[in-house]
Amino acid sequence: MVLGVPRPIVVAPMAGGPSTTELAMAAGTAGAVGFLAAGYKTPDAVAREVAELRTSRLPYGLNIFVPSSPPADLAPLREYRRALEPEAQRYGVDLPQLRLDDDDNFTAKVEIAAAAAVPLVSFTFGMPEASAVQALRSAGCAVLVTVTDVEEARRAAAAGADALIAQAGSAGGHSATTSPAGYDGSSTTPELVRDVVAAVGLPVVAAGGTGTAADVRRALAAGAVAVQAGTAFLLADEAGTRPAQRQAMLSGRFTETVVTRAFTGQPARALRNRFTDAWSASAPVGYPAVHHLTAPIRAAAAERGDPDALNLWSGTAHRDVRPGPVAEILSRLDG
Ligand SMILES: Cc1cc2nc3c(=O)[nH]c(=O)nc-3n(C[C@H](O)[C@H](O)[C@H](O)COP(=O)(O)O)c2cc1C
Repeated sequence: MVLGVPRPIVVAPMAGGPSTTELAMAAGTAGAVGFLAAGYKTPDAVAREVAELRTSRLPYGLNIFVPSSPPADLAPLREYRRALEPEAQRYGVDLPQLRLDDDDNFTAKVEIAAAAAVPLVSFTFGMPEASAVQALRSAGCAVLVTVTDVEEARRAAAAGADALIAQAGSAGGHSATTSPAGYDGSSTTPELVRDVVAAVGLPVVAAGGTGTAADVRRALAAGAVAVQAGTAFLLADEAGTRPAQRQAMLSGRFTETVVTRAFTGQPARALRNRFTDAWSASAPVGYPAVHHLTAPIRAAAAERGDPDALNLWSGTAHRDVRPGPVAEILSRLDG
């Protein structure tokens, strides 16, 4: 199997805090595999984390964001910026000017992965160039590409991926979709896995809506070689999930999830809160411009411990999430 670990479970990369080296190592120690999340981090920080995992000799992976191109028409972004002014006032912050670049240091991160021969490298937010995939494979890395439909699966296979992560609409956090305007987040994991397996002859890791051992069994029965779960590990002792998100998840106040572009301009599944109710209908496509735009509001809300303007990323299985050590959460999923 492409993952080379006894348990068919991947602890998902979760950029923005939850993914820590402790989380990835605890997953590896318990017979699963954990991913580091390179998103939003400097190359130096990524290199340090990779070195730590490498020294541990545990299996692990590194996830990298593929840069997105800016939208052709900037008018909807300017309009959204104007509309968000009252939010900025409410939280006592200034909205930054529009920033369209997506310099998440893609090339440097790919080079770090290749130089360290990271065992598993996954991509999200789009298709890496075939040259990047080849460079990683030549360095001894297995390359996984996150896809959300059959067409993306075919493109990832053509780019030379070793395996695919089939991410259904039930998944927490950003969707990897390359068609963010039309994305409705309605696909379910077993269905998507069956379609992708039938279309492309590559191993498929299922992602989305995993809360129980029955969810894992259903994904494997549909043809997946493993399941990548994120939300289930947000309350893990080893996760770096921000206190405001932990409290929100434990509060019982947030009972539904929605797919929204309101926080970042890319569809993402989050707990429904005041901000998603107010802005999901008008938020334009445009990652990372919207991510930069809302960053001060989200930071101020986090500081105040106000969950109503936070991006509380969560999948549809959020009700099954329990705190505890990773090893215990894995035993529940793999029972
Ligand atoms: C808080 C959070 C952050 C995430 N960040 C990333 C990321 O940096 N890279 C990535 O490929 N996927 C990311 N994801 C998506 C996961 O890889 C995975 O697709 C998802 O968690 C699976 O659905 P589930 O949350 O219902 O288990 C994130 C998910 C969550 C919940």
